[in-house]
Amino acid sequence: MPVQPAGQLVDGFGRVHTSLRISVTDRCNIRCFYCMPAEDVQFLPRAELLTFEEIVRTVRVGTGLGIRKLRLTGGEPLVRRDLPELVRQLAEIPGVEDIGLTTNGILLAEQAAALRAAGLKRLNISLDALDPDVFRQVTRREGYERVLEGIQAARQAGFSPIKINAVAIRGLTEDQLVPFGQLARETDTEVRFIEYMPLDADNAWERDRVLTAAEILQRLSTEFGGLRPVEDPAVNGCATAAAESDSTVVQLPQLPQSAAARAPATEYQFADGRGRIGIIASVTQPFCHSCNRFRLTADGKLRNCLFSLEETDIRDLLRSSPQDAPIAAAMQRCIAAKQAGHRIDSADFQQPDRPMYSIGG
Ligand code: 5AD
Ligand code: SF4
Repeated sequence: MPVQPAGQLVDGFGRVHTSLRISVTDRCNIRCFYCMPAEDVQFLPRAELLTFEEIVRTVRVGTGLGIRKLRLTGGEPLVRRDLPELVRQLAEIPGVEDIGLTTNGILLAEQAAALRAAGLKRLNISLDALDPDVFRQVTRREGYERVLEGIQAARQAGFSPIKINAVAIRGLTEDQLVPFGQLARETDTEVRFIEYMPLDADNAWERDRVLTAAEILQRLSTEFGGLRPVEDPAVNGCATAAAESDSTVVQLPQLPQSAAARAPATEYQFADGRGRIGIIASVTQPFCHSCNRFRLTADGKLRNCLFSLEETDIRDLLRSSPQDAPIAAAMQRCIAAKQAGHRIDSADFQQPDRPMYSIGG
């Protein structure tokens, strides 16, 4: 069935939105300090969560407006029952070209094969430390071994490459950079370091604790003898940065500024060609100028930015309107209201009320 061209999701800065991140639950089986409180979390009652049917309907409306790429997030998406069934239903929607999932990996060993069979294409596993003690400090729970088993199962199920997301935090995970670099060099794992963002539930974020992209590159370069931006404009638009460098090996950090850059992660290859890493410099080099994504929370609010202070409810419409047109209109309104970018580095920055687990990563 052909997709009807019914307009696009374009904001006031001309950014066309083709990517939707869908949070399927706010629950999680661990308690990363940068995202959740340690104890006594108030989770949404079940009736407030969108059903699979409602999520599928939202995506159908979205594909009519140009959405092509989906990513399922949480909380921890694998704690939502029957997730492979949702993946299967989403994969059948005309216009959906790509479905990814971001998971903490704890339940992955049990589900990797079913997710793959259901049509999941890409998998990002959040793991901030290769040292079990540091893992426990970050997550405040056990589970390190299970994540490793999950990664193994994902490989066996045929996911390739496997991407690991590691939030980089000063005073906590600096010592993990080199072991992660080694992992990237020795396996088909791409490690993507993410700058620590002010999305924690405790409002304890401090600028000084952000381990910056520049510092991460410096440390890895010193250890492994240089890194160069991956010369594939389709990946991150950084061919120019690479071509302009004499040796194409950057000893010091150079984040490409190309307006064509689309992916949040800037990818680098080790100078000797073995392995690659990515850096998501959300704080020091935000990719807002090329952002093409927006979010659906588990309770049916559209958010045009992780950091937006306003959201657009569509759950009421999903439950009361038999017509899709009002839902499409709400989606367009949400995108039209998008700001130029977040202002983490400015004095008047205001942290959103919802911490990360209740927005969706
Ligand atoms: N800063 C940076 N990354 C975060 N994530 C969750 N909270 C934060 C934060 N405050 C990451 C998780 C996961 C993804 C969903 O978002 O580690 O990889
Ligand atoms: Fe759970 Fe993800 Fe939040 Fe960690 S970052 S507590 S894994 S939802």
